[in-house]
Amino acid sequence: MEMGFRDDFLWGGATAANQCEGGYDEGGRGLANVDVVPIGEDRGPIITGQMKHLDFDDAHFYPAKKAIDMYHHFKEDIALFAEMGLKTYRFSIAWTRIFPKGDEQEPNEAGLKFYEELIDELLKYDIEPLVTITHFDMPIHLIQEYGGWRNREVVDFYERLVTVLFNRFKGKVKYWLTFNEINMILHAPFMGAGLVFEEGENQEQVKYIVAHHELLASAIATKVAHEVDPENMVGCMIAAGQYYPNTPNPADVRQAQMDNQENYFFIDVQSRGEYPAYALKQLEREGIEIPFEEGDKELLKEHTVDFISFSYYSSRVSSADPKVNEKTEGNIFASVKNPYLEASEWGWQIDPLGFRITMNELYDRYQKPLFVVENGLGAIDTPDADGNIVDDYRIDYLKQHVETMKEAVELDGVDLLGYTTWGVIDLVSAGTGEMKKRYGFIYVDRDNEGNGTLARSKKKSFDWYKQVIESNGEDL
Ligand code: BG6
Repeated sequence: MEMGFRDDFLWGGATAANQCEGGYDEGGRGLANVDVVPIGEDRGPIITGQMKHLDFDDAHFYPAKKAIDMYHHFKEDIALFAEMGLKTYRFSIAWTRIFPKGDEQEPNEAGLKFYEELIDELLKYDIEPLVTITHFDMPIHLIQEYGGWRNREVVDFYERLVTVLFNRFKGKVKYWLTFNEINMILHAPFMGAGLVFEEGENQEQVKYIVAHHELLASAIATKVAHEVDPENMVGCMIAAGQYYPNTPNPADVRQAQMDNQENYFFIDVQSRGEYPAYALKQLEREGIEIPFEEGDKELLKEHTVDFISFSYYSSRVSSADPKVNEKTEGNIFASVKNPYLEASEWGWQIDPLGFRITMNELYDRYQKPLFVVENGLGAIDTPDADGNIVDDYRIDYLKQHVETMKEAVELDGVDLLGYTTWGVIDLVSAGTGEMKKRYGFIYVDRDNEGNGTLARSKKKSFDWYKQVIESNGEDL
């Protein structure tokens, strides 16, 4: 019997452009929604689109402007990734580096050059690039002039972006993800999709227009990727985490089923190629119309993804009982608290077995290879007397998750391509904008207010992950 992870298992780490690059106005880069999201109490209302925010102001600090300045440190950072033995590195392309406004005819060469150098640097060390085409970002110009993704023309601009990328990086990049956590449209519409609501409009209706356009754009990207290079592998990406019923009461079980369906809706379309029956019926009941045009259904059906990628931080809990209202924090959206689980300092509940459960659900449902592209623990790291970060808590979290991931592969037969931990190097938190919520194996000297030398140093977990990779997941 075959044991353990496949020989070519892609162990790696993940980041996103706006959370690590900085250099927001360098190399001809344009402004994006993710740039103008500040740290502090206004962040929540801005992320969720309740507060219009399309520029900087003096009252706020904007962590993405400089982030960890990977724009200038990428060679040093990639050398550290290589030392750790990473087989793959997941990063995202800032749309506004390639098309600063989004609607230009020709791409910005300086932006392409930046990613080309980064990719060449990875290839120098035999690190496989795994590229997220859009990790939450959208050019501000497209929001202001076109209304963002609510406008079907934006699908054409996205097609222009991906066509440039697939051609330029042909033969160098094989793995592509179309949209990071596409289901965030429903929960964080501004940060997740650059969506700004207009006075008095039906927000649910708008969200599903945006969803339809992103789903079309994703299918087009898959089509073009395969046309440009049949070797290309395209994945969808969902913020996963199974919903458990709070009790065996059938009403709770039904609630959990509906919550799971809401989450799986996007991947159902991207992977199975059609709107699922439950969604069509529900949207119809709610009076929400999907702006189907001629050819859309065929496009979605013919260009489904090659693999299913997802982030997993925690499971979630559903209750049909309005009196059950003790909530817990989670990846952008809160859920009912699970009394059986511990939580991180940010209240995200820790559920390694839920990881195995989620993987089984996804594999059963789609029967396509999976790729875990985010998993990790956000924690405060305090240097000890010698200045070292002894992050046993992080090692512990990851160890438990790698163990259940291995069970999913070995015992349940899940076909798994790879695993990239979130925030392989410390970066800005998407949810809170903090630097002190750290995920990395590599510490970056920078604080919430933007102070620090930006110096990089290895945490204890650096050597631990190196040994995990060296042993292909045997030595935990
Ligand atoms: C996912 C995102 O939602 O979770 C990442 O894809 C994000 O961008 C990660 O950073 C962790 O969330 P947070 O809020 O702790 O940064």
